Amino acid sequence: MTRAIALDGLSGAGKSTIAKALANTLGINYLDTGAMYRALAYAAKQEKISLDEEDLVASWLDHSGLELVLARTGQKTLLHGVDVSTQIRSPEMSRLSSAISALPSVRHYCVEMQRQLADQQMPLVLDGRDIGSYVLPRADFKFYLEATAAERARRRWQQMQDGSQGAAAQSYDQVLAEIIKRDLNDSSRELAPAIAAPDAIVIDTTELSAAEVLQRILQLMRVRAAENPALGDFWRQYLVLDPVCGAEDKG
Ligand code: DC
Repeated sequence: MTRAIALDGLSGAGKSTIAKALANTLGINYLDTGAMYRALAYAAKQEKISLDEEDLVASWLDHSGLELVLARTGQKTLLHGVDVSTQIRSPEMSRLSSAISALPSVRHYCVEMQRQLADQQMPLVLDGRDIGSYVLPRADFKFYLEATAAERARRRWQQMQDGSQGAAAQSYDQVLAEIIKRDLNDSSRELAPAIAAPDAIVIDTTELSAAEVLQRILQLMRVRAAENPALGDFWRQYLVLDPVCGAEDKG
């Protein structure tokens, strides 16, 4: 058993909002795995490393300076000690991170780092594309968030208007076109594509607010932990389960 919560889904499905809120509610740390691919894409661009030359990329990875500082409310993504958390949110980095994440050497590098962090920082919430299906197949809880492409684009576009993504202005149509392209890249790549693990609980968030998704996930976790002693013994302290009756709040 891996004491982790895997939160997967395509771009704009609400993973990072929910992952942060979930980690904060449970009082545990959160790892945004997409930020690792974004930071590597950013570093590769800065250092003029061509993504077409995989051998070069593979030998460069150990020198990329990628480092993560985890916290309940998000993480700091560092390159050679410099915080690049804001710079990696641009539409260009969305495109480049999707491209770099398809390279096998990059995936091996990031997945290895993710497994080490999950081991060291147990229990952990991880958001990504392949956490439940590939990175941590024995994660205690697995959720896969879905929403229509139109709704995911609307959310991304809204985030841009709010300035929370640090991105240059893009029209809604541009955001939608990029989401559709990234969906295709991320779900059709050969190695560890974005996919719901067979034992993941799929939640369609199209019609739900973030607060509703969070409540649904917490409720599902409580029920599963109450039914399964191996889970309940460990997660009781985080989920506030009654030791005798199981889930305290079933409402
Ligand atoms: O979640 P995000 O939009 O920040 O992720 C950026 C890119 O990184 C995404 O297009 C695909 C890739 N990614 C991945 O391949 N595997 C993950 N676990 C997380 C992200």
